[in-house]
Amino acid sequence: MAYRDTTLQGISPVDAGRKVRLAGWVAGVRDHGGMVFFNLRDRYGVVQVTAGSQPPGIMEAARQLKPEYVVSVLGEIRPRPAGLANPGMPLGSVEIAAEEIEILNPSAPLPFVLAEGEEVSPAMRMKYRYLDMRRPAVRDALLLRSKTAMEARNFLASKGFVEVETPMLTRSTPEGARDFLVPSRVHPNTCYALPQSPQLFKQLLMIGGFDRYFQIVKCFRDEDQRADRQPEFTQIDVEMSFVVADDVMAVAEELALQLLSKIAGATLPSPLMRMKFSDAMNMYGSDKPDLRFGLEIADATACAAGCGFKAFASAAAEGGVVRGLRVPGAAGWSRKQISEVEDAAKKAGLPGLAVFKAEASGLASSIAKHFERSSLESIARALSAGPGDLLLLAAGRKKTVSKGLGEVRLKIGRDSGLAKPGDFKMFWIVDPPLLEYNEEEKRLDAVHHPFTMPRPEDVPLLDTNPEAVRAQAYDLVLNGHEVAGGSIRIHRQDLQEKVFGLIAIDKATAREKFGFLLEALTFGAPPHGGIAFGFDRFVAMLLGTDNITGVIAFPKTTRAFCPLTGAPGPVSDRQMEDLGIAWRDASRKGEMPVDGNE
Ligand code: AMO
Repeated sequence: MAYRDTTLQGISPVDAGRKVRLAGWVAGVRDHGGMVFFNLRDRYGVVQVTAGSQPPGIMEAARQLKPEYVVSVLGEIRPRPAGLANPGMPLGSVEIAAEEIEILNPSAPLPFVLAEGEEVSPAMRMKYRYLDMRRPAVRDALLLRSKTAMEARNFLASKGFVEVETPMLTRSTPEGARDFLVPSRVHPNTCYALPQSPQLFKQLLMIGGFDRYFQIVKCFRDEDQRADRQPEFTQIDVEMSFVVADDVMAVAEELALQLLSKIAGATLPSPLMRMKFSDAMNMYGSDKPDLRFGLEIADATACAAGCGFKAFASAAAEGGVVRGLRVPGAAGWSRKQISEVEDAAKKAGLPGLAVFKAEASGLASSIAKHFERSSLESIARALSAGPGDLLLLAAGRKKTVSKGLGEVRLKIGRDSGLAKPGDFKMFWIVDPPLLEYNEEEKRLDAVHHPFTMPRPEDVPLLDTNPEAVRAQAYDLVLNGHEVAGGSIRIHRQDLQEKVFGLIAIDKATAREKFGFLLEALTFGAPPHGGIAFGFDRFVAMLLGTDNITGVIAFPKTTRAFCPLTGAPGPVSDRQMEDLGIAWRDASRKGEMPVDGNE
């Protein structure tokens, strides 16, 4: 017997009278005495099945069923009796009158109820992800992901891009995170690194003559997890030869716009806006501002000297800034709302937040008495305040203040519903610096990665003022998330060595770690550049969420733990011996990871 001859995608209300065999899961059995009803669910939908007096025994068969039993049902599609249709279900106007019910596999009671709206902890959902994905919302997210990948693949193939797989067991690629390491058994005392991205291989492919490459590829980064980060995630990785930044951006922009339109039904104006990195930092305190709302940061440093308020005056005197946000119409905010914003400011590293309510008579605040009246007036002007607005100001070093206010801005914008669901604001961030000073390590770091090409007119600055050098790099920002990032690459060995030198990778280390790249650059490397989309992030945004676990079939917790398989887990002594490795703290051998709150 075939388990099924069609699926719930293959039937429709016009099929009334047709006999079908369906297979799927039982959802909800209702015994009305003279008739037993249950829902049958497959990947495509749900339909009601009825078991009545005919044929004999069918009602008894239906009474054996329990939730999530796997069944094969033969029956006739019938219109539901008048008044009993369920307009909430696509197949709500029909039912299957069962003639045969075969239990293919019973099910133990589930650890949680699958019904929508049931609160289940994230860890529980991850532990039983294979049950969780029977829920339509999870299923639909994974279907949307698959469709997006397919569209992206077709788009890139139609533009002449070739998909090439690159190694997973490789050497470290510096993308700014820690590596996941895989000890080698064959070569004692050595490790492979799982790729943080295929960056170096895609550059080698360009040198190899593949002028348009793409790959939908897993990347691995051992970094602190957040809602939009996972230890393994997927990129749509792209590289092109004989291109300038505009060429790469044009392809990426067309792809992003096409996906937004085809998958999320959103048409965005093209070409996308381009914002300078420095402007983004200045106006929004972020290199990935959420532009679904305004709330720009304004400067009030000029009002600080002689204003009477010590924190402001001394910040200005010490070369710092006084900057602020104007929240339109928020003067009536409750004490609680304001203290939440103050907490957010503290968390964001701001020493304090000066809060003013703009009234018709001027700025009012518990600290207003410390200010000269004229200073209050100039602060109100600097922030373009009008009656009913709330002003939030902070003083200190420009970077700290801007970043802190950027976080406060984000919290206010998102919490107060200024960012509307279904709204998409996407644009480019361009001209970021090539290098930034790393306070902890006391050296320069690459802002994007060390293979990024400086702007040609800035190259002389590498010797004199490297922090002022701008990179030929670009990030695509969607609703406050960096969904793609890329750059034109260095294709000359001497320049690559120079940049390594600036980020404190000396010649010997460069040769040891990236000798293969440096050598490859001497054998006719074409000018090239590329970009990579964070695929999980992009799909999550298409779905209107910013938590990427929802669009990953088997995600990990924020502590990089898999509650389903228990990974990472202990390994046997034998495996350790084979690899020639030993734990430093042998007393913890066999300990299972504990994953607190999730
Ligand atoms: P980058 O490091 O900017 O660039 O990564 C590209 C995109 O990948 C996404 N992303 C992540 N998504 C989920 N979890 C993570 N832990 C995570 N880390 C990054 C982001 C990001 O924009 N080789 C370069 C690309 C290039 O230059 O072509 C690279 O990997 O959306």
